[in-house]
Amino acid sequence: MLTEIVKLNEENKNQTIKKAKEIMQNNGIVIFPTETVYGIGANALDENCAAKIYQAKGRPSDNPLIVHIAKFEDLDKLSIKIDDRVQKIIDYFWPGPLTIIVNKSEIIPYKTTGGLDTVAIRMPLNELARNIIAETNLPIAAPSANISGKPSITSEEFIQEEFDGKVDMIILDNNSPIGIESTVIDTTREKITILRPGFITKSQIERVIGQEVISDLSFEDNDVPKSPGMKYTHYSPNCDIYIVEGDILTKTYKINQQMENDKKENIKSCIIAKAEYSDLFQNFISLGNNDIEVAKNIFKTLRQLDKEGMQKAYFLSMYETELELSIMDRMKKASGYKVI
Ligand code: TXA
Ligand code: MG
Repeated sequence: MLTEIVKLNEENKNQTIKKAKEIMQNNGIVIFPTETVYGIGANALDENCAAKIYQAKGRPSDNPLIVHIAKFEDLDKLSIKIDDRVQKIIDYFWPGPLTIIVNKSEIIPYKTTGGLDTVAIRMPLNELARNIIAETNLPIAAPSANISGKPSITSEEFIQEEFDGKVDMIILDNNSPIGIESTVIDTTREKITILRPGFITKSQIERVIGQEVISDLSFEDNDVPKSPGMKYTHYSPNCDIYIVEGDILTKTYKINQQMENDKKENIKSCIIAKAEYSDLFQNFISLGNNDIEVAKNIFKTLRQLDKEGMQKAYFLSMYETELELSIMDRMKKASGYKVI
């Protein structure tokens, strides 16, 4: 397949949006940036489109897609009913990095929801993404643009490598300041339940609705996964990631031992952590100065490790803020739950 690749700028913006619209209205696939990660999008109302996305990603077809919309009225067009509690949440957080699970309506095909009677919906903050969706006048199914099981993508250099020849169009624009995928909440239960933690946190949602919000990251508890995406290997680079636990002295001790072994065995390894620990280690890669920067850089860094032929990377666990918990969720999955 010939892929049209466009690097976005002010001059080609309108033309690019028009082109993306034409492709998606004709059931083609377009990759575009969102404020979280790049998305691989197509018409959410067409069964074949969902199948095409699954194929381009190499994704199992029971893993449901998020339906992206541009305006609040789009919910009515989809015959999606919203109660007062959910209305408060979307009024506050949309457009933004929050996905809501609601009951599916008839016009949304089961192919899009992976056979579920519920559907995930999100209104992205990224203006280009919203303009494209508005212009197509269609809900757009868009999972993260990455080969299934690999880290999500937030920077243009990796998008092209992974999808050139597999989709109709790629729009490049380094504009994913959040860096981790949207928070996913299930609103069909008695208590709003977080299925995937993200930039928008439990306590922020609690403040908005004045009710307790619970977390159900069942996969971690070896329970039945509630969000089908949770049962597959996720975010894994080729480099082996290890989560390093303990206080800083313990962490330093554990890492020094590991690094000594790696050196003996000629294994190329490094430490990845917040910048503040840079003085403590050699072969150190900084993820940023604070949790917001770490979230923004995490997926890019995971992919960079592979580029540099790194074989092992030791990640210093972080639990201080709610955003750090979301980062830990991604890193635990990337490590395949290898903890030292
Ligand atoms: O930030 C994001 O959400 C990005 C950008 C492109 O918008 N998209 C994204 O999509 O991360 P994806 O497909 O990679 O992740 C969607 C997650 C999956 O874990 C999926 O299983 C879950 O949402 N999900 C989707 N529909 C669901 C449903 N009806 N019930 C439970 N979980 C659902
Ligand atoms: Mg994904």
